[in-house]
Amino acid sequence: MPTATRPKKLPHPDLERILVTEAAIRQRLKVLGAEISKAYGSEELTVIAVVNGAVFFTADLLRQIRTPVRLDCIRVSSYRNSTRPVGPPRILDTLQLDLEQRHVLLIDDILDTGRTLSAVVAEIQKRKPASVRTCVLLDKKVRREVPLEADFVGFPIPDQFVVGYGLDFAERYRNLPCIGVLKPGLQNPPEWA
Ligand code: IMP
Ligand code: MG
Repeated sequence: MPTATRPKKLPHPDLERILVTEAAIRQRLKVLGAEISKAYGSEELTVIAVVNGAVFFTADLLRQIRTPVRLDCIRVSSYRNSTRPVGPPRILDTLQLDLEQRHVLLIDDILDTGRTLSAVVAEIQKRKPASVRTCVLLDKKVRREVPLEADFVGFPIPDQFVVGYGLDFAERYRNLPCIGVLKPGLQNPPEWA
């Protein structure tokens, strides 16, 4: 059988298909890292990662950035176990680093309705930073409910529920090396509701 016609092996049986391969992520992060390094130059940057989703993306992206960085994390919840938001974002765990007069780069896995990032940006603004910019791995533009666009975007994607490379459904699938579309039948099993 010619290899070109063989379907690509999925890294998990719960995936319908792969949306972004591991190699494509690696390539894109190099470019994104260079863009961010160019934008900030040698000025120290305070990176704030939204955990848990941005953990993998942040870890890989920061190693492509030459600008000196300080790292902090913030924990926000709105999804619980659903694939659609079930309430307004709640900040569960706050920042440890001082942000006053600092250049802040907020990193999240995905920009969807925009509610999470705008809540975190508002929280950061209270601390009087010198600047705030946002960076997301994925952007589901058609789902936006609040007017917010990220300054740095890895990949624009269609309105489909994706998992892997940090993105989860009910805390599962985060460790998949690529980004894949979850089979529709698995998105809301009754026992996870
Ligand atoms: P927003 O507040 O609607 O912009 O949602 C952002 C948050 O929702 C992200 O940090 C993710 O945790 C989660 N999210 C949105 N879409 C997806 C998806 O397709 N897969 C997994 N998580 C998602
Ligand atoms: Mg998240």
